[in-house]
Parts: sequence; C-alpha cells; structure tokens
Amino acid sequence: MFTTKELQDRILSLKKEKDVCILAHAYQTHDIIEIADFVGDSFALSRKAQSAPQKTLLMCGVRFMAETAKILSPQKRVILSHSEAGCPMAEQLAVEELRALKQCYPDAAVVAYINSTSSLKTQCDICVTSASALEIVKNLPQKEILFVPDCNLGSWIEKQVPEKKFHFIQGGCPVHMQITEEDVKEARRRHPQALLLVHPECKEEVTRLADYAGSTTGIMNFAAQSSAKEFIIGTDTTIAEHLRFSHPEKRFYALSKKCVCQDMRLTTLMEVYHCLNGMGGEEIVLTDEVRLGAQKSIDRMLGK
Ligand code: 13P
Ligand code: SF4
Repeated sequence: MFTTKELQDRILSLKKEKDVCILAHAYQTHDIIEIADFVGDSFALSRKAQSAPQKTLLMCGVRFMAETAKILSPQKRVILSHSEAGCPMAEQLAVEELRALKQCYPDAAVVAYINSTSSLKTQCDICVTSASALEIVKNLPQKEILFVPDCNLGSWIEKQVPEKKFHFIQGGCPVHMQITEEDVKEARRRHPQALLLVHPECKEEVTRLADYAGSTTGIMNFAAQSSAKEFIIGTDTTIAEHLRFSHPEKRFYALSKKCVCQDMRLTTLMEVYHCLNGMGGEEIVLTDEVRLGAQKSIDRMLGK
C-alpha cells in the first residue's frame, strides 16, 4: 500500500516525465493541492495554463473548467481528471431553452456565469466569473440583463446595480444553496467573535447576513489580509481546510458541513495517478463551432 507521500512523489515524477501541467481548483482536497502546478478559482486556472510550457493540461476540477482550459489553450491536450465530474448548475439550462428566453427579452444583454457549458456560452453576449461579474454587468451598455444560470449570484449583483432590470431562471449551485439562515445563526452562536465570509452562490438569506461575500479567491484573500482571528467560511468545506494550513495562527470554521461539492470530490490523488498513467480521466474535445463561439463570450469578458 502506498502512503500519501509516496503517491505524491510518483505523481510529481510522472508529470515531469509526461510533460503535464496539473491544475487544481481550490475545492480539491489538500493532498491534490500539494502536487498541483497551479491552484485557483475556475477561470484563473485556465488563464495561468495559457502560459504554461507543458503540452498537456490535467484539470482537477469539473467539466466546464476543463472546457474553458481547452478554449483558451486549443493547441494543448486537456484532460478532465474524472469523466463524471460535472457541475450540476452548468447543466441546468439547455441551449434551446436559452434561445426561447432570448426571444422573451430581446433587449437584454445575455450574461453567462463561467459555470456553464461551452454550448450555452456560444449563445451569450458575455461571460462573467464570480470575481468579475459586478464590474462587467455595471459597465454593460444595456439596461436589461438576462443572467444565467445562477439566480443567486445574479440577485447578489442586482442588489448592487439597482439601475438595471434583471431576468433570471430558477438556477443555482445545489451545494451552496443548501446553506440556510439557520446555519448562519447556529455558526454565529458557536463562534460569536468570527467574521462570516460567503460565496455569492449562496442564497440571499445567507449573503445578506455576511461580513463579506466574494469569489473563492476573494474569500481567501479577505481572510489573509484581515486582522480578525476567527472566520466562518460559507463555501465548500475544503476552503476552511486550506485556510487552516495557510494561516495556522487563525481559526476557520465551515459554515455548514453539508457544503461539499461531490463532483469535485470525484477526483482523488489515486485518480490523478491513473490519469498520468493513461488509465483515467477524459480528453476534452470540442468542435470548432463550439470552441470559437464560446471563445467570443470569454474574449468579451477579457475586454478583447
Ligand atoms: P469560483 O471558484 O470561481 O469562485 O467558483 C466557485 C465554484 O463553485 C466553482 O465551481
Ligand atoms: Fe458546480 Fe456548485 Fe460544484 Fe461549483 S460547487 S462545481 S457551482 S455544483
């Protein structure tokens, strides 16, 4: 039987031998974070991978992230670490449904959260991440916004951009949406000195009670820079765990133990080992039509 350290050492030498760059979303477990070339939020990983010298990218995350990496680095081979690792929210809106919605709101700018399929992105005006959404939506010339698929992130932006009219679907991240106002009350009761930091994929009843709401990177930066010593973290429980390693002088508590993305958990250290041995994962293949169509809405987000 391998120890974790032995397996990590084998992975490190295999990725060098096979010229593979390992990308790990911040919701991956600590043993995977330790062997990754880059760790970050969904879009940051694909951006960093563009300048990586390796010819192959192994995305330890979910399908839309691997597709985004392929769109930004079409000349590279992109492997998704587990073929079943999807994002339930990204699958919530079909292209045909979006086409019908666009007919209902012909004057609206169609804004897609990056957590969406590449096919859906081909039908949107612009993509956003949880970090960039507010600034981008504020600066769009249109006064009407059709925001898909996450109505929670969308309403969080709506509150801060009252001059625009928003339309949503009943979509959202099933993992973050499990967190309730009751969870907040209970966590505040247990940890009265702690600041509450949450992801805007949480429901409005949760974000309105937070001391800070922002992307995964935003939450981690806030915790690093704050002089506070205790924090309740309202996103996937791995983030509280990573913060404990980076700031052992501070205390971090998960807002809810239910907030665990099972799709992210499909990738294990052993699964990464199998991928590097050509015995696991799935190579991402996109048609030129989908790749170039989705790239347009990503390019607009980048101001290109
Ligand atoms: P970010 O990492 O972009 O903040 O998104 C959170 C998330 O749910 C990723 O799937
Ligand atoms: Fe999708 Fe939510 Fe999991 Fe992120 S946490 S991958 S949005 S289901």
